Amino acid sequence: MSVEAYLNKGIKEIISEFPEVEEILDEFEIGCGTCGEGLCLLKDIVDIHYMEEELEAELMARISNAIFPDKAVKFPKRKRKPKGPKEFNYSPPMKKMVDEHVLIKRWLALLPKVIENLDLETEEGLLLINKGIDFIRNFADKYHHAKEEDETFKYFDENFDMIKVIRNDHVKVRGHVKAMLQAIKNKDKKTLAENLLSYSQILPEHIKKEDEILYPWMDRKLTTNQIGQLYSKFNEIDLEYGDAPIKHRTFIEELEKKFC
Ligand SMILES: [Fe+2]
Ligand SMILES: [Fe+2]
Repeated sequence: MSVEAYLNKGIKEIISEFPEVEEILDEFEIGCGTCGEGLCLLKDIVDIHYMEEELEAELMARISNAIFPDKAVKFPKRKRKPKGPKEFNYSPPMKKMVDEHVLIKRWLALLPKVIENLDLETEEGLLLINKGIDFIRNFADKYHHAKEEDETFKYFDENFDMIKVIRNDHVKVRGHVKAMLQAIKNKDKKTLAENLLSYSQILPEHIKKEDEILYPWMDRKLTTNQIGQLYSKFNEIDLEYGDAPIKHRTFIEELEKKFC
């Protein structure tokens, strides 16, 4: 069987033919052996994990050694896209969270206009700001952060610095939201504007850290099995929230029409 044929073969089949491959994958923290499905092709596994080029070359050399012990056979080098600053190959659950960030970033882009047009006196003005805060609390925090804090982070050491930094940002944001709600009650436009501004300054950097450092790192650390678990959990969360995220998206679209 050719090298290419093995790249296009399901990993479970390869493992049953060459059990050593499971150990090699484990060493590289790719837990295909315990995956209930095992349908991924060898080439997809390499692609999903998007390891550093050298590490990937080492993994492929070990696998080819296990499959072709008597021959000096090399798997062809995978074509890599030239890595631009924002090009990441996210796993499906991480991609879901990155897509949610896109809507949050659209909200952040609207914030200068929202702040400029703050109106706590009319029904229309109050409706707008309350919907905005509802977006922050229920979409960006509850719905999105539930996936981060309650599901994804539990696979990692809570004391890991990067996770602490991200959690601290979430705490800071919640503090600003609390102050925003109080400011609305007090009809205090200045404090509301200040807190919206602080929020809008924390979030872009926070999202960048997650998109460009945290999620790619987590993707590298999670096993294929864990990624599968996470993805089905995310689908459950989406079901639980029903059409609430769609309503939030509609709110952003309406606001874009109003202000842009
Ligand atoms: Fe976050
Ligand atoms: Fe996030």
